[in-house]
Amino acid sequence: MSLALANDPRRYGLVAIVLHWCMALLLLVLVVMGMYMVRMPDVGYDQVKITVILVHKALGLIALAAVLLRLAWRVGNLLPQLVEGLPQWQQVAARFVHLSLYALMLALPLTGWWMSSAGGYPVTFFGWFDLPDIGPFNDYWFRMSIVIHRWLGYALIAVVALHAAAALRHHWIKRDDTLRRMWPRGMVRSGAAHPTKPGTP
Ligand code: HEM
Ligand code: HEM
Repeated sequence: MSLALANDPRRYGLVAIVLHWCMALLLLVLVVMGMYMVRMPDVGYDQVKITVILVHKALGLIALAAVLLRLAWRVGNLLPQLVEGLPQWQQVAARFVHLSLYALMLALPLTGWWMSSAGGYPVTFFGWFDLPDIGPFNDYWFRMSIVIHRWLGYALIAVVALHAAAALRHHWIKRDDTLRRMWPRGMVRSGAAHPTKPGTP
């Protein structure tokens, strides 16, 4: 298994890979948690619901810090080329989807933070420290930010579904190196490692 930390022209390095998969897991937890907590009844569950929202907010702030780190690493590092032989529209589509994912990873925590500021709720990191407000206390913007945060969440689900389907299509149908480039070397076998015809080396 390769332990190269930095990207190279053909594949992602360990830092990008760890950030990609840890963030994918964290965002999955945040989306499931967010959709679950807004559906929790208030009566009788008050304390549980408040605690779940507090954890959602603190994990959302970790996601914000992680995406900032990831962006800093991306601009300071080589960007691997896409696999060879992709039609031009797929090259454009892949990069556009990646940029949209970065935009959503930034916009979601920022609108969540903005929502709390507009609603007059402090944003605390597990009760250790409070963050400053990033917008004025305002009921109209509070209600707007809830709707915007919700639709950004739905957009994230849709774009990730497209992104994951494309990655799996490359791996299982086109049998190229797309998914292996985002995984520590040697841990995912590609089509090339599975000879389909007898006698193929
Ligand atoms: C990447 C980070 C985040 C993701 C993916 C995310 C996702 C979600 C989702 C899917 C919902 C449910 C929306 C609905 O179905 O109505 C939600 C609700 C909520 N989120 Fe986030 N969130 C993130 C970060 C944050 C942050 C940083 C905060 C605050 C500091 C926050 C505060 C809230 C609150 C208060 C709700 C409940 C809104 C309501 O009352 O309807 N979120 N979030
Ligand atoms: C919340 C979930 C996810 C997010 C936010 C996400 C985000 C991203 C982003 C932004 C990139 C571009 C990295 C860069 O160039 O800087 C990327 C690349 C990649 N992702 Fe994801 N991803 C997610 C889930 C997944 C899943 C579930 C799969 C596989 C089934 C996957 C497979 C890949 C692959 C193979 C690449 C490399 C594409 C290439 O450059 O050839 N991702 N992802």
